[in-house]
Amino acid sequence: MKVVQSGVPLSGPYLDEHEEQLVLEVLRSGRLSLGPTIDAFEELVAAKVGAPYAAAVSSGTTGLHLLCISAGISAGDEVITTPYSFAASANCFIYEGGVPVFADIDRATLNMDPAAVEAAVTPRTKAIVAVDIYGYPCELDELRAIAERHGLALIQDSCEALGAEYRGATIGSHGPSAVFAFYPNKQITTGEGGIVTTHSEEEWRLLRSLRNQGRGDSGGWLEHVRLGYNYRLDDVRAALGIGQVEKLDEILALRRDVAARYGELLGDIDGVELPLADDADHRRSWFVYVVLLPSNADRERVIAHFEREGIGYNRYLPSVHLQPYMRERYGFSEGLCPVSEDVSSRSLALPFFTALGRDAQERVAEALTAAL
Ligand SMILES: Cc1ncc(COP(=O)(O)O)c(C=O)c1O
Repeated sequence: MKVVQSGVPLSGPYLDEHEEQLVLEVLRSGRLSLGPTIDAFEELVAAKVGAPYAAAVSSGTTGLHLLCISAGISAGDEVITTPYSFAASANCFIYEGGVPVFADIDRATLNMDPAAVEAAVTPRTKAIVAVDIYGYPCELDELRAIAERHGLALIQDSCEALGAEYRGATIGSHGPSAVFAFYPNKQITTGEGGIVTTHSEEEWRLLRSLRNQGRGDSGGWLEHVRLGYNYRLDDVRAALGIGQVEKLDEILALRRDVAARYGELLGDIDGVELPLADDADHRRSWFVYVVLLPSNADRERVIAHFEREGIGYNRYLPSVHLQPYMRERYGFSEGLCPVSEDVSSRSLALPFFTALGRDAQERVAEALTAAL
């Protein structure tokens, strides 16, 4: 990842004295882990996304892994997921011996195309891991219908989509269990961290046990009722998270403004495709700002120009099935998911964060225009 210090950085957190104060209080309380701040953070996030239960975890990846365990994914089970994502959305079930089956994406939404998902179902399919890429909600109703028809688990990787809305309701509220992530480039951060939301009390209890070394609800510190993990979030991070969730509405509104300004500044650059606009069913929570360069443009030339100008960027996102370890393990190669591969070759993430100002955005727009 390229983050340029003296120029326009790619991303950055949005924090102030409020978070510092909340973290200080935890430090001074002596309850640094397994304390009450975790519960408070979970309740706050659950209320915010409209899910009855939430379990905080150490990262988005660990949350996804726990949902794969909860879904009973085991060796040889096929799991359908999107190639246009961060590697963790496939890794989470590979940890359990699940076999990745990639369904190509829709060119407009960049999310999995439900028709491709349906076509990928076999008698060995166990689950679907759907991603809300770049905070744009996936086709949840269609994917749910496919999952129900074939008796599959549906896991929602909403790591990039805190606060997004699908068909008028917040992601997390619809029913499928969802994971949100809090790495510092996300809408809100806990440093490292994540949270799983679920509508099942039974699953919630299982998640709390799994993240805590397999300890049971009752029983002692040294009693382990199942194979567990240390996937806990600590109270220091939970305090940071509370301060951030309290700012979430403000953060989402500011990010929406930043995106709208990019829309104005970049709209006239010939051949550059901007992120898909919201519609009645999909309201994006802005995570990154990724444009598609014209197919005849040389992305590396644009990047070289950004480097000279001190402007942050990233090649979001390479297609997961073409990552070196995927080619090696499963023999995947070019042509498996042509839409994803085409988008991967042309996409470029521009600097995007909550406090990004118009002047810096103008510099980015000028640099992009000049490079093309
Ligand atoms: C789509 C997606 N899934 C999973 C993850 C994993 O989250 P984390 O980095 O917190 O483990 C991320 C975060 O980058 C992500 O963007």
